[in-house]
Amino acid sequence: MKRLIRQRRPLVIGHRGYPRRETENTVPSLIRALEVGVDGVEVDVRLTGDGVPVIFHDRDLSRMAGIPAAVEEMPLSAVREVSLRGGGTVPTLEEVLDVVAGRVLINMEVKTPGGWRECVSLLERKRYGGPFLFSTFHLEDLEALTKAHPSCHRALLTREGGRGVVEAARRLGCVSLHVKKGAVTGDLVAASHAAGLFLLAYTVNEEEEYDRFVQMGVDGFFTDDPGEMVSWKRSRRR
Ligand code: G3P
Ligand code: MG
Repeated sequence: MKRLIRQRRPLVIGHRGYPRRETENTVPSLIRALEVGVDGVEVDVRLTGDGVPVIFHDRDLSRMAGIPAAVEEMPLSAVREVSLRGGGTVPTLEEVLDVVAGRVLINMEVKTPGGWRECVSLLERKRYGGPFLFSTFHLEDLEALTKAHPSCHRALLTREGGRGVVEAARRLGCVSLHVKKGAVTGDLVAASHAAGLFLLAYTVNEEEEYDRFVQMGVDGFFTDDPGEMVSWKRSRRR
């Protein structure tokens, strides 16, 4: 994983696929991201009421489908019937793994506390061989994952900077720290690197921001417009 990031940095990671072109976190969104040559894709994982990992961001289905119910409270069969605004349906993690199929890095951001267990079981059952990375805002989840599966690559998500998050990520053997762009500073990048961590910024959609963060040494980006960012990255290489 470290070699992959070092070789391809700055990583262009499609945030929820390619949401500027297709409904976020759907199979078409991931396919569009793959088509433009991303280094990775990020998906949000939640467990249905009957414990199946599916790809969905929000706490409930209001914004995306006008339904004020949480995925966690619905069986998979009901989640499957939901039509999303903008088109498409909620995919299972299994479907998404079949689409990505090891071609690029898949970052599973686990939203449901403890949901990493079902994700790891699925990866094991499928003998998924491609590069994958778990991330979460929940420190307790990261601690439990680290204990149960120390070889699973993982990252700490944070909306704030500070030495505390760098130290926590280092202590938990993370590969990277994923930081909300407003909290990214040159000092935080330097402290992360000194601790042996890559720093990835979210969600970066502007060219000026991309250049500024690359100058700072940021190792990768989550972006809503991976097509644009891939072209910035290629043009800087010439
Ligand atoms: O993983 C980066 C980013 O997706 C975290 O925030 O709210 O977009 O899931 P959010
Ligand atoms: Mg996310």
